[in-house]
Amino acid sequence: ADTETTASAPPDTPATTDTAPTTDTAVPDPERTREPDLGVGDDLFPDLGSSDVDVQSYLVRLTVDPSRDEIDGIVTIEAEIADDIAVMPLDQIGLDVDQVAVDGDEAEFELTDTELLVELPPDVASVVTVRIEYSFVPNGATSAVGLPSGWFVNAATDDSYVLNEPDGARSWMPSNDHPSDKAKWTFEVTVPPGTTAAANGELIARTSVDGDDVWIWAEFEPMPTYLVQLIVGSYEVVVADPVELASGREVPLTHVVPAGERTVFEAAFESIGPQMDFFEARFGPYPLERYGLAFVNDLSGLAMETQGRSMFGADDFAPEAPEFLQELLLSHELAHQWFGNAVSPATWGDIWLNESLATYAQWLWLDEAGLQPLDDFAAEMLARRQVDGESTGDPSVSELFGFLRYDGGAPIVHALRLTMGDDPFFELLSDWVADNADTSRTTDDFIDLATEVHRSDLTAFFDAWLFAGDLPDEYPS
Ligand code: ARG
Ligand code: ZN
Repeated sequence: ADTETTASAPPDTPATTDTAPTTDTAVPDPERTREPDLGVGDDLFPDLGSSDVDVQSYLVRLTVDPSRDEIDGIVTIEAEIADDIAVMPLDQIGLDVDQVAVDGDEAEFELTDTELLVELPPDVASVVTVRIEYSFVPNGATSAVGLPSGWFVNAATDDSYVLNEPDGARSWMPSNDHPSDKAKWTFEVTVPPGTTAAANGELIARTSVDGDDVWIWAEFEPMPTYLVQLIVGSYEVVVADPVELASGREVPLTHVVPAGERTVFEAAFESIGPQMDFFEARFGPYPLERYGLAFVNDLSGLAMETQGRSMFGADDFAPEAPEFLQELLLSHELAHQWFGNAVSPATWGDIWLNESLATYAQWLWLDEAGLQPLDDFAAEMLARRQVDGESTGDPSVSELFGFLRYDGGAPIVHALRLTMGDDPFFELLSDWVADNADTSRTTDDFIDLATEVHRSDLTAFFDAWLFAGDLPDEYPS
């Protein structure tokens, strides 16, 4: 993961797309005959990612011209690949691929329903740079998990955004589209003059090239595909004063708001400090370098923990909108920066580590804010939780982001807290993040750490709560 990346081009020059591969000492198999794995072994999404590919960096260059139906892209991927595979598989659905190069040389490729298969030269090193020139027609839609997924355009305003979780990224960019593979990212988005393009991380440059605007953003903290943020349209980037935390730390803030409307979101901006202080006291230091809030048009009742800058629907934060939902969404997405972003799920079946922990954090904050008493609500949700057959720890695709992972999953976290006691419980959560930041972990990893902190076996607890369809009638006392 320490290899030089194409993404480290100086900020003021548009990043180059073809660089020599990093010298590698592994001796490649001259045969390169093995068929690659077309998945990482994710039971719920067998065709996502590949265990033969480990991406180090993505450079995503997009040209978004609202007068055209298509968006053009050039994605350059630096990846470590297995020594013996004949072709390198990437995830894609419905992309129109024009040209592929491996280490600067044009390469043969094949498109299947879910993959881009790139032929590898037999003598290629185990770190390769693959450049894919392609186009796609934005086709955001409801995915198999019942959530909006992919690239969404409002035909009337030309505004667009992406929602990727869990598998929307492959509908607009070739990638190793799985949360187990984190990489560094650079985004370079060309748009008509006056249009804004925002992505994760730091705004490196906003330049003008041939009359178009080019926005360059860099996110060098390891990030999987599902946490990518891309927002294009009539928006304003607000580089705000850093938030000063009780811990003494200053966290840089960059927000994105509909053009001219920043004052509408002032209260939301102000919520960051108190919420971060509250979570730092319980989960340990805020785990990323920066934060911010992005408010987009044409989204409501739903938010996304896009890494380092959470995304919300602007309408949910209109002056007359209910405060309760705002506090819920703001605290939930902020908590995900610890649970989901710093530590990501190793497979989609581990999603309760994201959603049940973030929901519990949200419960804690709503209690703190006097909006929802914790004990009453926990009791109510435990009662409501009894109706379903599926366990929280073993989800199905269609229910992946359903009740059992959210308000129906947080009771398990509450029960764990009551079983362990407050101090060990919060020690577990902060150790979980401190020990595993920048990686992707399994439910078993979490159970092992819980057992270690508890100094006593918790198998019976997790069997009765996390892996059971029916939960116990009452919380442990
Ligand atoms: N992870 C999000 C949240 O709970 C929900 C999923 C949104 N994903 C999507 N494709 N719309 O905060
Ligand atoms: Zn969530």
